[in-house]
Amino acid sequence: MAAEKWVYMVTAQTPTNIAVIKYWGKRDEVRILPVNDSISVTLDPDHLCTVTTVAVSPAFDRDRMWLNGKEISLSGSRYQNCLREIRGRAGDVEDKEKGIRIEKKDWEKLHLHIASHNNFPTAAGLASSAAGFACLVFSLAKLMNVDEDSSHLSAIARQGSGSACRSLFGGFVKWTMGSKGDGSDSVAVQLADEKHWDDLVIIIAVVSSQQKETSSTSGMRESVETSLLLQHRAKEVVPKRIPQMEEAIKNRDFTSFAQLSCADSNQFHAVCLDTSPPIFYMNDTSHRIISLVEKWNRSEGTPQVAYTFDAGPNAVLISRNRKVAVQLLQGLLYYFPPKSDTDMRSYVVGDHSILKEAGLDGENSVESLQPPPEIKDNIGSQDQKGEVSYFICTRPGRGPVVLPDQTHALLHPETGLPK
Ligand code: DP6
Repeated sequence: MAAEKWVYMVTAQTPTNIAVIKYWGKRDEVRILPVNDSISVTLDPDHLCTVTTVAVSPAFDRDRMWLNGKEISLSGSRYQNCLREIRGRAGDVEDKEKGIRIEKKDWEKLHLHIASHNNFPTAAGLASSAAGFACLVFSLAKLMNVDEDSSHLSAIARQGSGSACRSLFGGFVKWTMGSKGDGSDSVAVQLADEKHWDDLVIIIAVVSSQQKETSSTSGMRESVETSLLLQHRAKEVVPKRIPQMEEAIKNRDFTSFAQLSCADSNQFHAVCLDTSPPIFYMNDTSHRIISLVEKWNRSEGTPQVAYTFDAGPNAVLISRNRKVAVQLLQGLLYYFPPKSDTDMRSYVVGDHSILKEAGLDGENSVESLQPPPEIKDNIGSQDQKGEVSYFICTRPGRGPVVLPDQTHALLHPETGLPK
């Protein structure tokens, strides 16, 4: 086999996801088993995704990986666990056109090259590990002809990063915590696909932050060790919220969806404050955005926008519909305008069509914007230039897909090295 020079590869794209009922705390650190169920919305991969190319060749002498163009080590236990689990399930592969035949038993000896790229800046603090591990497992499963459904694959991705298991599906996803010691029932399931509730519009405010954040992994470990509120949340609060959230999603009941999402985000951050020493993920800008949304929702009588924050200051704002999202964006741009000379299309990225609807793709500038009258003067003046780095406009999106077009491959088809 050593004399053969072929390279066989697969490229896939996987979305990221935002939890609306949060995962925070593990009962098993090695297998990554959570203390409660969680529910997420998958974000449109056209705007936020990871693309991964995985390649196998008898010419490769060791497993190697490149992340955003830089070689990284695969020696960590999370990578090793995913690679071992997926290799153990590999099947026979045949590509008659290229004259390649790999038998099940060959996979143990063959080495892999992996190249992964996020279409959003890793520094933005968006859940890159979720999309990353989901894409690694999904693309390897395709390469190795693994005959398992997405839920089984989610249990492997979970061992890379807990939240990654939810990125194996599009739409609305539940990660069931499971009860078995080996974690085989701690898997993700799809509650509804992305078309089920396509009125929703998601605007992410990427908040500027100089602060070095505590990683999710170490933060949740400290919360499990020290927070009594976490125990109460896992035992009493989340088990009640999960069926309520499932119901809200099933019925497209935005009022319940928003109330539950906001309450759960706030409780997650309360658990962080209840941790010793306390962990602060949100900053003043995050708090100002919460005030703006809360005041607006109250003045409307029913929630128009839901907010949720992960382990960082970025706000994920989910609007009831397009009309509300346009008003929200106008309000956000009024309070958090770009620094002078910033092009609007680089300040609002993702689905640009919203700029047109907000009247901001032409001559009009943010100076022409007025805030919704109900919230004017309530959250301070228009002096927060530069607090938000940029906004991403997106929506619920699809699950992982293979990208058959070779132009998407991140590895060279002949050498198997990064292009
Ligand atoms: C706040 O999945 O990043 O985003 O399992 O240790 O890799 P590890 O943690 P990770 O934690 C995500 C925490 C969260 C909430 C969520 O996504 O549910």
